[in-house]
Amino acid sequence: MQATPSDVSRPAQQSARKTPPTEQGVSTTSVHAGEARQKSNNAITDSVVLASTFTFENTQSIIDFIDNDEERGEYGRYGVPGEQVVERKLAALEGAQEAILYSSGMAAFVGVLNSTLSSGDEIVFFDECYHRSREYCRKYLSKFGVVTKEVKTGDYDAMEAAITPNTKMLVSESPTNPHMSVIDLDRFAAIGKQHGVTTIIDATLATPFNISPIAHGVDLVMHSATKYLGGHNDLLAGVVLGTKELLAPIRKLRGIMGSITTPHNCYLLQRGLKTFGLRMKQHNENGLAVARFLESHPRVEKVYYPGLETHSYHQIAKETMRGYGGLVTFLVKDADWKQTAAIVDAAKMARIAPSLGGVETLIEQPLVMSYFQCTPEERVEFGIDDNMIRLACGIEDSVDIIADLEQCLAAQ
Ligand SMILES: Cc1ncc(COP(=O)(O)O)c(C=O)c1O
Repeated sequence: MQATPSDVSRPAQQSARKTPPTEQGVSTTSVHAGEARQKSNNAITDSVVLASTFTFENTQSIIDFIDNDEERGEYGRYGVPGEQVVERKLAALEGAQEAILYSSGMAAFVGVLNSTLSSGDEIVFFDECYHRSREYCRKYLSKFGVVTKEVKTGDYDAMEAAITPNTKMLVSESPTNPHMSVIDLDRFAAIGKQHGVTTIIDATLATPFNISPIAHGVDLVMHSATKYLGGHNDLLAGVVLGTKELLAPIRKLRGIMGSITTPHNCYLLQRGLKTFGLRMKQHNENGLAVARFLESHPRVEKVYYPGLETHSYHQIAKETMRGYGGLVTFLVKDADWKQTAAIVDAAKMARIAPSLGGVETLIEQPLVMSYFQCTPEERVEFGIDDNMIRLACGIEDSVDIIADLEQCLAAQ
């Protein structure tokens, strides 16, 4: 089954809101898309091919390969056999022409920026984001003469005002990590188009199950496939999706950087994707149930979850999302960082760990897990409160996640 571009004949908003841009249902697509009907050894599964290099019969076959741009293995750093199946599957799920797989989400992000930007260029990004993405832009892109400008998340006028003739990219997550703010994708894409600037959305927290940025006109989408796409906390991977044209130079640089997934990881990702639709339904249900429970708990000051009517981005979330995912961030009422840590430490089922999107529920205090080395001023700037807890709901039964949280919140 071939990857299909997004369905341009349907109004973008309607298709993005109501129906995923897949030819068949999401679960059918995750099980079958991208796979050959008849595979090696007549096996129902794809084989894992462990090879760092690929042989040619003779010199003429090398010349044919180069001249005809044949699809076959050459050298492992340029790509491994199993990755094409996964790339086609992910492209079909996203409604993108193509996908490029990477060794991690960060490798995907760095790969896109490095291949697109040159010294003197500028990027503008919404300031709520995964801390390593911000760190890469601030500390490393600047070394190569690229200017990064941060504007307040959701301030589209500020984003537009920050654009200069040197601006090459507009960058955002949706929803953002860990505040769960949701971007108006139509508006974000329109600003990019109007100024001839490439737009990219990191949709890791939503996945193609819940949003379709390309259907809104966004140029590139990326995900940390380590999270919901892999889904089992057992692999690292990243993916960038878009048109063939935009992805061609990005793939070239990946071949030089060597930031590819291993054959075994490709297999794990393909296997994880088989249950993507089922898992996402459960993550969405759990996220909403847990957010509602927390919202009504006397020890909770605030809940960040776009599915809640009280969330400041609920309206735009309803317009752009089909579900709201498993990540719920909340603030504990009148608690300092140690009292907050005691609540995390009381977890009996949820595991204390970074990451999200796997089958196991994970709990963490962002202040300690990701921002411990920041100054108090930086934490204020990044909106990381001492009493903040991030809960990544797994696929367990929501009653059990809630029971665990209930006893955590009873901790002193
Ligand atoms: C929104 C977001 N983008 C990117 C990444 C980076 O992904 P990876 O850990 O696969 O490099 C993460 C990791 O937590 C993330 O949450």
